[in-house]
Amino acid sequence: MTVCIIGLGYVGLPMAIAFSKKYKVIGIDIDKNKINSINKGHNYLIEAKYLDQELKNAVESGKLRATLKIDENVKEEASTYIISVPTPIDEKKRPILTPIISVGREIAKVIKKGDLVILESTTYPGTTREVLKPILEESGLTAGKDFHLAYSPERIDPGSKWKIEDIPKIVGGYTKECGKKAARLYQQIIKKVVLVRDEKTAEAVKMLENAFRAINIAYINEFAQYCQIEGIDAKEVIQAASTKPYGFMPFWPSLGVGGHCIPVDPWYLIERGRIFEYYFDLVSLAMRINDEMPYFTLNLLRDALDEEKVPLRDAKIILLGISYKKNTADPRESPSLRFYELLKMKKARVLYYDPYIPSLHFKGESIKSESNLEKAVENAHALVLGTDHEIFKVINFKKIAEKMATKIFLDGKNMFNKEDLEKFGFKYVGVGRG
Ligand SMILES: NC(=O)c1ccc[n+]([C@@H]2O[C@H](COP(=O)([O-])OP(=O)(O)OC[C@H]3O[C@@H](n4cnc5c(N)ncnc54)[C@H](O)[C@@H]3O)[C@@H](O)[C@H]2O)c1
Repeated sequence: MTVCIIGLGYVGLPMAIAFSKKYKVIGIDIDKNKINSINKGHNYLIEAKYLDQELKNAVESGKLRATLKIDENVKEEASTYIISVPTPIDEKKRPILTPIISVGREIAKVIKKGDLVILESTTYPGTTREVLKPILEESGLTAGKDFHLAYSPERIDPGSKWKIEDIPKIVGGYTKECGKKAARLYQQIIKKVVLVRDEKTAEAVKMLENAFRAINIAYINEFAQYCQIEGIDAKEVIQAASTKPYGFMPFWPSLGVGGHCIPVDPWYLIERGRIFEYYFDLVSLAMRINDEMPYFTLNLLRDALDEEKVPLRDAKIILLGISYKKNTADPRESPSLRFYELLKMKKARVLYYDPYIPSLHFKGESIKSESNLEKAVENAHALVLGTDHEIFKVINFKKIAEKMATKIFLDGKNMFNKEDLEKFGFKYVGVGRG
């Protein structure tokens, strides 16, 4: 059997490698560089180094190959299609389903009787049935009768210890038989597969999970803002509350949320709710609170600079980390990048240092990471930690402090101990640290 995986990013590539241990896999992506890299056995996901050898083995043994298009060769070989293309939002925070629609059209041209199509991209309940199914049925085949259709949300956590094989997989089919067929497929590579009533339920599981996180993070961010005024250390409060053996789960305040999930996916749920005149007020408020955290953090920086009599517009600021998540090179929806933008808008001089992201394109501008932090901090007024990369723990802060004009350290991730930095003369400011 041959499995065709469309969209070879953070979700699709690890999935393709996992399936290649059991089946032949054809990976499809519109990004030529990714295709070339895979066919050479090179892993471009630096967050998933553990896949380097597995990818090499899969390609060298002929179990995995990548190509730009679903063509006649793919049609002949493949009987299963898994879609893991992006599901972003537009500037008005509305879902963009164009990648799913265009992939659906490509599959419709080649789908055969008995084939299985699974959507893995995160999206609102109803997408598989109302958007993807009619497109696939333009082939003349009927879902649930001629071909199988299912939804299975991806729960991968790039940069963490969790491997695809160990994360329980939710599966729901358009019909019972569709669900069973998709579940049997995933059972070949994943230890625990949870079959739910239908594909809409499976779509709702992902929405519930991500909105749950967004709401809890928002509550902690709100609580941290209160702690700031009250003079309490929110981190200490959360750590202490976490000793309760039941009924509490820690979430952590920061300068903002980033990535493809928390700042994006709940908008899919909100948008879907609107068609039933259901407004998801709590989720919307959570999104607002989280979106406002860069502004709150900017005020903390401004206050600290004011105390040093340095106007923000005259300040030189160094941002430590630009990716949205620690130990990754992923800048999508990064709050650190948002902070960079806000500082620019306020006319501050801002440079960033992130060894994971040497350069990036942002709003039509190409920006580069500083290569030498010790040089970059000369005459700087503040360091702002935007990403809690492990490598930042070994920075020689004593040396850094000596070179700065004013020694402000704004810890946007509450990564460091206040006392550890104060001993080098830093004025330490955390998010919600009192
Ligand atoms: N990254 C995560 O942590 C994560 C976790 C769970 C779920 N998801 C969801 O999985 C989906 C994919 O996310 P990702 O992080 O892998 O995105 P990504 O941007 O890393 O990868 C998507 C890939 O799809 C390709 N692509 C785009 N349009 C295409 C098309 N028309 N045909 C073929 N390829 C196309 C892109 O070139 C890219 O390589 C999204 O819906 C996301 O919300 C992501």
